[in-house]
Amino acid sequence: MPLSLTSSRACSDDTVCVIGAGYVGLTTAVGLAEDGRHVRLVEIDEVRLQMLRDGRAPIHEPGLDEVLARVLRTGHLRVVRDVDEGMDAAGIAIVAVGTPPTVDGEADLRYVETALAQATKAAAEGAVIVIKSTVPPGTTARLSVGRRHSHNAPPLVMCPEFLREGCALEDLRHPARLVVGGDDRSACERVADLFARESARTHITDSTSAELVKYGSNSFLALKISFINELAQLCEATGADIESVADGIGADPRIGRAFLNAGLGYGGSCFPKDVRALENVAAYHGQSFWMLKAAIDVNAQQRRRFVGKVVTALGGSVDGRRIAVLGLAFKPGTDDMRQAASIDIIRYLADLGADVVTTDPVAMERAAPMLPGVAMVADPYACVTGADAVVIVTEWAEFRALDWERVGRVVSRRLVVDGRNCLDGGDLARLGYTYISVGRRAQAPD
Ligand code: UGA
Repeated sequence: MPLSLTSSRACSDDTVCVIGAGYVGLTTAVGLAEDGRHVRLVEIDEVRLQMLRDGRAPIHEPGLDEVLARVLRTGHLRVVRDVDEGMDAAGIAIVAVGTPPTVDGEADLRYVETALAQATKAAAEGAVIVIKSTVPPGTTARLSVGRRHSHNAPPLVMCPEFLREGCALEDLRHPARLVVGGDDRSACERVADLFARESARTHITDSTSAELVKYGSNSFLALKISFINELAQLCEATGADIESVADGIGADPRIGRAFLNAGLGYGGSCFPKDVRALENVAAYHGQSFWMLKAAIDVNAQQRRRFVGKVVTALGGSVDGRRIAVLGLAFKPGTDDMRQAASIDIIRYLADLGADVVTTDPVAMERAAPMLPGVAMVADPYACVTGADAVVIVTEWAEFRALDWERVGRVVSRRLVVDGRNCLDGGDLARLGYTYISVGRRAQAPD
C-alpha cells in the first residue's frame, strides 16, 4: 500500500475521498467502503447529505440502502459537506460529479473542473486524483497540462465506470474489466489496485484512450440496440420473428446475444448523452460519424412507430380512448426517468387525445413533475380498469407476473401492445387478448 508522508500530513490509499454522491459516486463509495476502505463521500446538496447520513439512498438501486446503512454503522463511510474534510489523509480522490449535456449536446465539464480544483488544493502529497465522470476524449490530458509543471499537483488518472443502473452493486463487486488511463504508470497501478477484483481484466492505457473506451462501449451497445430495432422492422415486413432472429445471431460468440433485445430503444442518463457527445467530438474533428447519427435517428423513430402501432390497433385513432401505460422508468430496477421512452410515448398519446393512465413500481414520484396532468396509480389492476389498450413500456417483472385473467375482467377491451416483448403472446391470445409487440407476429384470440 503506497504511503506518502509530508512534514505535516500523511496519506494512504486505504482512505478514499469520493466527490459527488450521484449515481456513480454513491455506489462507488459504498462499494469501496464495503470492501474495507475508509471512504469520505462529499455531497454539497443539503437534502441529499441528510438523507445519506440517515442511511437512505436518494436513488432506487437494489441492495444499496442496506449496504449504505451497514458501512455508515461500521464507520467505513462518512458523508461530508466539503472537499477539504473529505481529502484529509486520502491517498486517492475520485471525481464522480455529473457531466450533463449542454444544449449543443456537448458534455458540460463545469462540475468536473470545480471538483478537480478543490481536490487538487486539498490533496496531501502523494495523492492521486481519479476522474470517474464520463468526459470527452482528450479532457484528462488537457486538464493534466500545467499540472506537470507544478510539482505539488497530484497526478490525474482516468478510470471510466461501467456500472449498470439496477445492478450497480453487482457490477462493482464483479466487474468484467477495469480500464485505467494516464501518463503516470505508478498512479494508474494504484488506482487499478483500488478497483481490482478477481473477475476483472485490467487494461492500463493513456487517458484519452480510456475516455474513448467509455464512449465507444456505450455507443457500440446503442448501435446494437438500434440495429436490432431496424431488423425488427424488417421482421414485421417479412413475417419473421425478431426474438428468434436475435437468438440465432447472438449465438455467434463474436456477436453475443446481449443488447439484442428489440423494443422501444435505449433511454437513461448514459446512452443518449454519450452517443450524442461522441458524435459531437467526431464533428469537432471534421468527421461525420454516420453510424452514430443513424443510431440516434432509429432510436427516436422507434418511439414514434410504437405509438403508430397503438393507434392502428385501436382502429386509426386514440382520441378519447383510455390507455393504460405500464412502466415509466427507463428500464426495470431503477426509478430513473432520464430520457425514458415513457415520456415521449405518453406525450404523443396525450397529444393525440388519449386519456392516459400510468403505473410504475418505483418511478411515479420522479415521473410526476415530468408528466404534469398524467394520471398515475400505484395499483396496476386499478390502472388497467376500463382501458381500451394496455401498453407495456418498461419490462418490470411485476407486469409479467400480473394475473392476466383478472386484468381481462376489468379492461374495456383485451388489447395489449407490448413495447418490450416481455409477455407471451400465445398465452395472452388463449385468454382472449389481441397481442401486438415489436418485430413479432401479432397474436389474435383463439
Ligand atoms: C449503461 C451501460 O450498460 C453501463 O455499462 C454504463 O456504465 C452506464 O450506461 C453508464 O454509462 O453509466 P444503463 O444506462 O444503466 O448502463 O442501462 P443499460 O442496462 O445499459 O440499458 C440502457 C438502455 O438500453 C435501456 O433503456 C434499455 O431498456 C435499453 N436496452 C438494453 C434495449 O433496448 N435493448 C437491449 O437489448 C438492452
